Amino acid sequence: MPVPPDQPGPPTALITGASSGIGRASALALGERGARVLLVARGRQALEEAAREVRAAGAAEALVCPADVLDEAGLRGAVGTAVERFGRLDLVVHSAAVMAYGRIEDVPRETFQRVVDTSLHGTANLARVVLPVFREQRAGHLVVVNSLLGNVAAPLMGSYVAAKWGQLGLVRTLQQEVRDEPGISISLVQPGGVDTPIYFQAATSMGSTGRPPPPVYSPQRVARAVLSTVDRPRRVVQAGLFNPLITAGFRLVPGVYDLLVGPLLTLMAVANDDVPPTEGNVFESRPAGNATEGRWRSI
Ligand SMILES: NC(=O)c1ccc[n+]([C@@H]2O[C@H](COP(=O)([O-])OP(=O)(O)OC[C@H]3O[C@@H](n4cnc5c(N)ncnc54)[C@H](OP(=O)(O)O)[C@@H]3O)[C@@H](O)[C@H]2O)c1
Repeated sequence: MPVPPDQPGPPTALITGASSGIGRASALALGERGARVLLVARGRQALEEAAREVRAAGAAEALVCPADVLDEAGLRGAVGTAVERFGRLDLVVHSAAVMAYGRIEDVPRETFQRVVDTSLHGTANLARVVLPVFREQRAGHLVVVNSLLGNVAAPLMGSYVAAKWGQLGLVRTLQQEVRDEPGISISLVQPGGVDTPIYFQAATSMGSTGRPPPPVYSPQRVARAVLSTVDRPRRVVQAGLFNPLITAGFRLVPGVYDLLVGPLLTLMAVANDDVPPTEGNVFESRPAGNATEGRWRSI
């Protein structure tokens, strides 16, 4: 990650969702670059564990600040801490999200709403506190982790699809709104299936847990895509081999897509288990489930 020539010292970053999956892998990758990193998520315990790993990877500094992205004041505190401690904020990676499985008619309203809120209002809250800092610095890069499901629809994942379509619209709008400040860039990364704990942390009302559809990427591979946008900002970056093909199928032959998506999803993205309805980590952190990797083989 380049540091502006008039600002000596290691790069500085804040990461949401830093205690698990793609956010944690991104924090580790930044640690390897010797960055100063502030890690944000709701649960302190997994954040502390992640921070220890980030320090061990070579970070100049790794701090934790527990905050919920739905709490704008908490986010303001985290961003303020980063600026106060590091002197500036070069990069913000936004990876916090929650997921729920089940038909829209079966997912409890509060669960549906929280999944959408976390991605949509969480991103808007973060933008409201980060962009004024970037404008003041006249520089800064925001990377939002979206999903292939920001481009296409999939049954049994309605709240998450709505959340990710909304987040895509929001981020594309933010990209247009910061065009007046050339020093600020905003990139969006759309992963396909990734081996992270999100699948067994998710709420479910469908009688089973979900799993990542193949080809399953490692969180480290997606973290490389995230950091590639820092070196070369782009509006939208794919991190999934078949993403362009699936998106083209959804747009160009919707009849065929709709015919295939249900059976294929049941075959490749639903676990063969039997679980009672659960809220998962939708309303509260479940630190024991947070880790960099999930339990699937990845490429
Ligand atoms: N895994 C995939 O296959 C995949 C595919 C496409 C896109 N994505 C996207 O990639 C991003 C990261 O997902 P992941 O798979 O890495 O998930 P993950 O392993 O479950 O990590 C989610 C992180 O977000 C935090 N978090 C959840 N709700 C939060 C809230 N309200 N406020 C602050 N932090 C919160 C979690 O910690 P706490 O619970 O302690 O807060 C955790 O650190 C998400 O945007 C997801 O939609 C993932």
